[in-house]
Amino acid sequence: MLKPVKLANKNYLSSLDISLKEINHILELSTNFKNNNLNIELKNKVLGLIFEKSSTRTRVSFQVAMSRLGGTTIDLNPNTSQIGRGEPIKDTARVLSRYCDALAVRTFNQSNLEEYAKWSTKPVINALTDLEHPCQALADFLTIKEEFSGFENLVLTFIGDGNNVANSLILTGALLGIEIRIACPKGYEPDTFVINKALEIYKNKNLLKITNDPYSAVIGANVLYTDVWSSMGEENQKEEKDKDFNGFTIDSNLLKRAEKKAIVLHCLPAYRSKEITDLVIESDNSRIFEQAENRMHVQQALLACLLS
Ligand code: CP
Ligand code: NVA
Repeated sequence: MLKPVKLANKNYLSSLDISLKEINHILELSTNFKNNNLNIELKNKVLGLIFEKSSTRTRVSFQVAMSRLGGTTIDLNPNTSQIGRGEPIKDTARVLSRYCDALAVRTFNQSNLEEYAKWSTKPVINALTDLEHPCQALADFLTIKEEFSGFENLVLTFIGDGNNVANSLILTGALLGIEIRIACPKGYEPDTFVINKALEIYKNKNLLKITNDPYSAVIGANVLYTDVWSSMGEENQKEEKDKDFNGFTIDSNLLKRAEKKAIVLHCLPAYRSKEITDLVIESDNSRIFEQAENRMHVQQALLACLLS
């Protein structure tokens, strides 16, 4: 039976923290968990969840993943713990890692997450920061692998804001050698450090394309992907961003220009008729709910690799 192999890094803070071999291992384990072919126990292990932003999928999928492994979670609401009062991360991390076996943290700055990792004696997992959403990317590529039975010659076009979700797609896509096209309005391009890192990783540098034209970016694409235009914490920019992203909606017209059997992904939550139409979410091309389910399977695999 397949056994989880311990990851080389203690933490999963960025998509860059795992190697290609480790990604493939996590995806293989995920499929086995999904098909009930694995019986790995993390009995009595406790995952602490620190969410400084709202969450449905990430929180619940971590809770259920831990429960399926025989472990448990503690959900630390910053408002009812001393985190919201401003207790230094270095104190919180040192204390919580004496109680818990791992921490999954959703916060704003990547540097906050790194501070948790610096002081925690146990693994820290990125449950979303402004810079990255690496657990999401693992679920996305599991969904793509299931659909196309692998990654060869695939084109993924992301249409939207070049922030956390796009950044992790780029980095994981670069490790997997998949063509990634990002179509975003001017000024919303992905992080420069992320682009440069991805270009270092790609053997064929032409596989990463950043454009401001969604119409040309979808031609020949096998996967269309989008995310909300205004991320958590950007609520006051909503009006301006709605204007800037005009023309970047995944609708039936855009979908028609992609490959015939293209699938559509969205990390959710979605604003229907902004970044994607209701028709496309509910279409036969949509794999959005399979993708959401896969969050649980990949996190089960990730936890098994970090904690076994
Ligand atoms: N996709 C995602 O991370 O969803 P939540 O914000 O609901 O966790
Ligand atoms: N970019 C979005 C992703 C939500 C899962 C946000 O940060 O709010």
